Amino acid sequence: SDIEKGTYPHYMLKEMDEQPTVIRKIIQAYESETGDLTIDADILQALQDADRLYIIAAGTSYHAGLIGKQYFEKMAGIPVEVHISSEFGYNMPLLSEKPLFIFITQSGETADSRQVLVKIKELGYPTLTVTNVPGSTLSREADHTLLLHAGPEIAVASTKAYVAQVAVLAVAAYVTAKANGQGVEFDLKQELAIAANGIQTIIDSKDVLEDIAEDYLKIARNAFFIGRNIDFCVSLEGALKLKEISYIQAEGFAGGELKHGTIALIEEGTPVFALVTQEAVSLNIRGNVKEVAARGAYPCIIAMAGVDEDGDRLVIPQVNELLTPLVSVVPLQLISYYAALHRRCDVDKPRNLAKSVTVE
Ligand code: G6P
Repeated sequence: SDIEKGTYPHYMLKEMDEQPTVIRKIIQAYESETGDLTIDADILQALQDADRLYIIAAGTSYHAGLIGKQYFEKMAGIPVEVHISSEFGYNMPLLSEKPLFIFITQSGETADSRQVLVKIKELGYPTLTVTNVPGSTLSREADHTLLLHAGPEIAVASTKAYVAQVAVLAVAAYVTAKANGQGVEFDLKQELAIAANGIQTIIDSKDVLEDIAEDYLKIARNAFFIGRNIDFCVSLEGALKLKEISYIQAEGFAGGELKHGTIALIEEGTPVFALVTQEAVSLNIRGNVKEVAARGAYPCIIAMAGVDEDGDRLVIPQVNELLTPLVSVVPLQLISYYAALHRRCDVDKPRNLAKSVTVE
């Protein structure tokens, strides 16, 4: 490959390290001459014209889409549905009158997502692709493109592209909200810069995540990731990362839902990673942790500064409540990475997986 690992043992580690830089690049790429965040006028118009957004994606990009829904609904007041591309194509829901379709795809080549784009174009609806690869198939074939500016991602397990997707979706939602005169009371540019610094802090203390991986996952057969609200979306991505590269069976759950069945799987020592970044539900998720701990689980609370408590295993830097996924996903990526290393797995090229899947 022409993309060098340099002194890094794995692309994945290099790409995780690049995440603060990626966020700073996104700020620059979407900054106008006056220093405000901006997106192309025709993309803004398409977002303003839509009565509902349909986000279509697969894998990690789907998980970024779940966060994007929160952004467009909470900042811009636009209803959003998020769909798995391989399902949507064959089981299309009823559509609103003025839908805009947003395809989130790192590679821009995923066949499952492309087949939806082809169908949607036949129906004549407007389309936007959010991708890392300019000139990719889904970028060329959609009406509009928003670029991730993450640089080439080589490791099969997506890390920096996820963070870029979340950041670019935040920018698009924020710019739309401002244009619509919605009251967004923060300066996203500044908040993204703070998040970039927060990620850097976590990256600079990787050893802590290596210890956690060793402590919780060395002999684990399975693991759970729980969170509520936006933390639930991130817990799905945390579980996927662990499965992909360490082959430990993992599931992400809404904190309150685990007790409705899956808690039956909790045994003595079962690792449960719990994200606590949202003040409004922090007591609820802490209650869910107590429920699993009472059944013998080995809980690892990852809390954001400001909502942390004594005994939390990891405290991550405080960022804007909507931007917590940018920061909270990073310890989960690193825990997965070290768990995979301990098991001598091929971190960059996990078995059975491809970087981009160009067959349906
Ligand atoms: C593959 C990769 C995943 C990725 C998914 C969607 O399955 O292994 O890491 O999330 O495709 O890829 P895309 O390029 O469309 O984001």
